[in-house]
Amino acid sequence: MSLSSQPHTFRLSPADYGHLVEQATVAPEQYWARESTRLTWSTNPSQAHCTKDGWFPGGVLNASVNCLDRHLEKRGDQHALVWQAEETDRVVTFTYRTLHERVCRMANVLRQQGVQTGDRVAIHLPSVPEGLIAMLACARIGAIHVVLFGGFSPEAIADRLADSGAVLVITANMGRRGPKRIPFKTTLDAALDLRLEALAVRHVLVVSVTQDDVDLTTGRDMWLTPLLNEAPADCAAQDMPASAPLFLLYTSGSTGKPKGIVHGTGGYLVWASYTHELVFDHQEGDIFWCTADIGWITGHTYGVYGPLLNGGTILLFEGMPSYPGPGRWWSVIQDHKVTTFYTSPTAIRALMREGDEVVQRHDLSSLRVLGTVGEPISQEAWSWFNDHVGGGRCAFVDTWWQTESGGIMISPVPGAVREKPASATLPLPGVHPVLLDERGAPKEGATEGVLCLRGSWPGRALTIWNDAALFERTYLQPYPGYYFTGDGARRDEDGYYWITGRVDDVINVSGHRIGSAEIEDALATELAIAESAAIGVPHDLKGQGIVVYVVPRDNAPEDLHVRAAKAITSKVGRYAAPERIHVVPDLPKTRSGKSVRRLLRKIACGETEGFGDLSTLADPEIVATLIALIQVPK
Ligand code: PRX
Repeated sequence: MSLSSQPHTFRLSPADYGHLVEQATVAPEQYWARESTRLTWSTNPSQAHCTKDGWFPGGVLNASVNCLDRHLEKRGDQHALVWQAEETDRVVTFTYRTLHERVCRMANVLRQQGVQTGDRVAIHLPSVPEGLIAMLACARIGAIHVVLFGGFSPEAIADRLADSGAVLVITANMGRRGPKRIPFKTTLDAALDLRLEALAVRHVLVVSVTQDDVDLTTGRDMWLTPLLNEAPADCAAQDMPASAPLFLLYTSGSTGKPKGIVHGTGGYLVWASYTHELVFDHQEGDIFWCTADIGWITGHTYGVYGPLLNGGTILLFEGMPSYPGPGRWWSVIQDHKVTTFYTSPTAIRALMREGDEVVQRHDLSSLRVLGTVGEPISQEAWSWFNDHVGGGRCAFVDTWWQTESGGIMISPVPGAVREKPASATLPLPGVHPVLLDERGAPKEGATEGVLCLRGSWPGRALTIWNDAALFERTYLQPYPGYYFTGDGARRDEDGYYWITGRVDDVINVSGHRIGSAEIEDALATELAIAESAAIGVPHDLKGQGIVVYVVPRDNAPEDLHVRAAKAITSKVGRYAAPERIHVVPDLPKTRSGKSVRRLLRKIACGETEGFGDLSTLADPEIVATLIALIQVPK
């Protein structure tokens, strides 16, 4: 699509954008000093670059004040949050004033429960307003929030509670996913029972999302609503240094153990506000809908912080795309006049299957900007979303970033950067991608390589919780002098970036990162399994699906498939359930005993030739054995 076919007026022109890129490159200190003034600081930072104390040293601020208090005078009666419940006729709205009051009450409840500044508070909730309110309440008192995705298994929750040392958990009696009920409290109870001694959790506060009753452990568990009603409606905000952790968010990497990525306050908030305004062309009156769960980074930066920092209106939807019937998401856009719609390629692929008529039955003319994130989008899905949902009138931002980057890094800017379907296009002003060869040397011009970033940016994670050395080893040491993203990319003759996917052993299922090692560690707990390998294969709906190879021990039981699947869903979660499990006599391994995933991937895709030189394998015959053994569904 060319820029001229978009009828909307966007904030930036190509010339404005060029100017920003130049300023950010030529005088970065001045550039970021100016950008830092988008926040309200109790004490202004003394510097505007990355120091050993992180970004914006000397700066003191509070995140909830920046999201709420400072808007009260001008926007007190404007909607800050519109919550569309599962039921079509149930909408709950919060103005900036009422949201401020709720957050203050919640912050006071946390204080009453003994939560101190710097303590970790876990939030384990479905898509209800209390999730966002709890995050901002933590921020208000300087507690560090740790949001746990609702799809995690009890073991995955227990691991994260233990690692973070959370002292309090906020959960729900039940979550709703269409006709299904998700037992949040029971799952949390199971997690707490698993690791009772290792956990610091003293209190559990329960949000009543449904009418269901649940067991409350005396002295530990309490319903939240009565506490909120009794708590004072105002709460002084805690001043925090710019480098104080605002939250931890667990994500997967090449090691089995998920990492608690630590984001700071000043730098992260500048990045959330800067990128939200730039990439989504934020304008007065916008209704911003990000479909990501708050359990993921997208839900943090664009489901909560970005839009509120910029005085916008957030739409939060409890339900699913196609419940109670096809087209529910389109009805939500129509009913709430959503202007900015940010979702995932996985969701788009599923919605495409419902057909074009479903979309056409709705008035989607309020839309101005469409965005996607989390995985590569195909040209077909890009065009469908652009033409049928956006009516060819909207800007389309395919945004590349990751948990560790805090916010968007490579993306079109509406009105300023010409789109190419399925390309994340150009880095935002102040972001400096490089493509390296295997030896770590930069490659120039149109080329392909490992995607790294030069220099720092305000949104960059501070460290990994409890493991600063792992942060260095994972991101800074693989390619000295650069930040290693874990992704590969191609750059075309216009300098546009095309993300090709992970170059490490991370599998991207429906935009969720899952480490091969995480799955293999889970399988190692099943005694009947001698060894295993997990790999990702292309999947029509999910982008990638997981295929698992397991090698049984002698006398393995017949139900090994079932046991293997159970080990994965109970240790990791339902979202990591494999597509296929192959029980095999052995794995292709190098002489030093390392599984060769490249071969396992080809075999799982049904390829029968082009395996290259197999003579370096400990047992070259195994490849033919596996090809003969494995049935690949067409
Ligand atoms: O592989 C890239 C892919 O998702 C990874 C980051 O995952 P996570 O930390 O869970 O954050 C997801 C939401 C920001 C990246 O390393 N990814 C993300 N966005 C894109 C993408 N791959 C291709 N195109 C994108 N737009």
